[in-house]
Parts: sequence; structure tokens; C-alpha cells
Amino acid sequence: MFSKKKKNIPQIDKDQLELIQNAQRRVKQKKRLYIHFVVFLIGSLFIILANLVLGIGEDVKLFEIDWFVFAILVWLFLFLYHTFNVFVTHKFMGKQWEQEQLDKLTAQQQQRIEKLKQKFIKEETLMAQSEAYNETKAVSKKLSDLTIIAAAGENDAIGKGNKLIWHLSDDLKHFKKLTNGHHIIMGRKTFESFPKPLPNRTHVVITRQSKYHVPEGVIVVNSIEDAIDATKNDSQPFVIGGGEIYRQAMAFAHKIELTRVHENFEADAFFPKIDSSVWKETNNTFHDKDDKHEHAFSFLTYERK
Ligand SMILES: NC(=O)c1ccc[n+]([C@@H]2O[C@H](COP(=O)([O-])OP(=O)(O)OC[C@H]3O[C@@H](n4cnc5c(N)ncnc54)[C@H](OP(=O)(O)O)[C@@H]3O)[C@@H](O)[C@H]2O)c1
Repeated sequence: MFSKKKKNIPQIDKDQLELIQNAQRRVKQKKRLYIHFVVFLIGSLFIILANLVLGIGEDVKLFEIDWFVFAILVWLFLFLYHTFNVFVTHKFMGKQWEQEQLDKLTAQQQQRIEKLKQKFIKEETLMAQSEAYNETKAVSKKLSDLTIIAAAGENDAIGKGNKLIWHLSDDLKHFKKLTNGHHIIMGRKTFESFPKPLPNRTHVVITRQSKYHVPEGVIVVNSIEDAIDATKNDSQPFVIGGGEIYRQAMAFAHKIELTRVHENFEADAFFPKIDSSVWKETNNTFHDKDDKHEHAFSFLTYERK
């Protein structure tokens, strides 16, 4: 009862206001044209009367025609020009209005571009994040799958002059059985120590050379990370040597299948030391020397703790 009624103030946005102002401008233009028309009619009548009734400029003629005819024609021309301006030139509120519309459109487009840019940056960031996540996932997945397989003497010797130092047929069978059907990652030197690629295995050769030629089916990569990446569809890839690659792969592997040959050998390639704080022995199978095996050896399995 005692509360004052709030006044309802109509809210007009900027665009509406502009339209109203333009409409008002149009009305003014048409009004002026209408006044011009009336003044033209009255003026023409006045000129005719001044000449014919009052005799003003009676003798002034051009080509035998009274001067007022020319005066009215000139005025008519001006009036037509005015009409043309109102209905044609200013139809769309003139140049200023056009410029304003253009500015408005440009501003809107710029806003849209800005929004799209923001969206694009957001999507790119998300994509980069998901790529990084997938890469991390791929490497960490390999940590749980990647197995190093090697044969090393008691002094960690693995090769000399790019050749194996011993021939142990049961160890070769063991290697063949475990790696059969899988990816085998190796350094360029180990790859070159084979007379030809091993059957039924996908070879992934690591080299720093940019144009290293290999037989068909052999994959060439330039880093251990790329080698791991190349095996991502294999549930059980192996790193098969040699010394340089074993050292770099230790950080990525989850398991080591090591044939420990129970002797010391002269060598120029060695297996890295197995850190007992990182690796625990989970299997140890001894194989004595015999007619086919010049040295005693043990199949050892190590798993990351
Ligand atoms: N007993 C075993 O179980 C066993 C197993 C395998 C091999 N082996 C023996 O080990 C010896 C070979 O071992 P190794 O240490 O001399 O050579 P390797 O590890 O087989 O190969 C070394 C080569 O790998 C490439 N490489 C290494 N690290 C790289 C990196 N981070 N990025 C790109 N490329 C990289 C380089 O190739 P580029 O020079 O082309 O750039 C380098 O010269 C031979 O005697 C072989 O018989 C023994």
C-alpha cells in the first residue's frame, strides 16, 4: 500500500536505438522534400503571377519564351535532384550509415574470429595433452612388457669383433622359443652380425644414420624410444642387444632373460651390471656342459622390483 511502484523503464539496446535514429533521419529528409515541393508550387505560382499579372520582367524573353518558364524549369530540375537524393542516394541512410553498418559487421566478424581462435587453441592444447598422455602410456606400457634377452659370461662379456664368443645350441633354442613371432629390437652392429634377418621375427634396428638401407620388412629407427614405439602392437617385444643398446634399454625393461655362461671371456662388448636393488631373480635353471655345450650355463630370469 505504501510501497512506491517502480517505474517501468523500457530497455532499448544499441542496435534498436540506431534503427530508431535512422528512421527519424529518414522522416526528416522526407519532410524537407515535402516542404520543398510546397514551396516550389507556391513559388512557381508567385513567379507566374508576378510576370503575367504584375508585369514584372514582361519584356524579358529567351527564344520568344517568357523568363518565368525557364525559372520554373530550373527550380523543377533542383526539386527533382532533391527527390532523387532522398529516394535513391539516401535510401539506405547515406554513406555514414553504410560505414557504420560495415564497421558493425567487421567488429562482429572479428569477435567470431577471436572466439574461433580461442576454441582452436583450446582444442590444440587438449590434443597435445592427450598425445603426451598416450606417449607416456605407450612408454609405461612397454615398461611392463619389454624384455631384455642376452647371454653373458661371468665377467659380463657378450661379444668380440662383432661376433658371439660361444656356440650353445640349447641357448639358441631358448632364444628362438622366447622371441618367435615377436618384435626384436637391436643396435645396428648386432643387426650386421647376422648373415640375414632371423625368420618369423620383426626386426627393429636402431641407428643414428639417416639413410640406412635394410631388407624389406626390417624397421629402422633413430632412438630407443622410437624402437619401443614401433613395437606398441606387440604384447611382448624383446631387446636382443648388443652392449650399447642393452645399457640404454635397462631403464625401459621390466624383465631380463639372461643366460649366464659360467666362465670369463675376452670381449669388446659387455652386458651392463644388474643392480640388485632394482632387479630380483625369479628363476634360475642350471645347464651343465656336455658334448654339445662347451660351457656350463644357467637360464636366469630377473624382474623389476
Ligand atoms: N651375447 C649376446 O647375447 C649378444 C647379443 C647381441 C649382440 N651381441 C654382441 O654385441 C656386440 C655388438 O654390440 P655393440 O654394443 O658393439 O653394438 P650394438 O649395440 O649392437 O649397436 C650399436 C649401434 O647402435 C646404434 N645406436 C646405439 N645407440 C643409439 C641411439 N641412442 N640412437 C641411435 N642409434 C643408436 C649405433 O648405430 P650407428 O653406428 O649406425 O649409428 C651404434 O653404433 C657384437 O659382438 C655382438 O655379437 C651379443
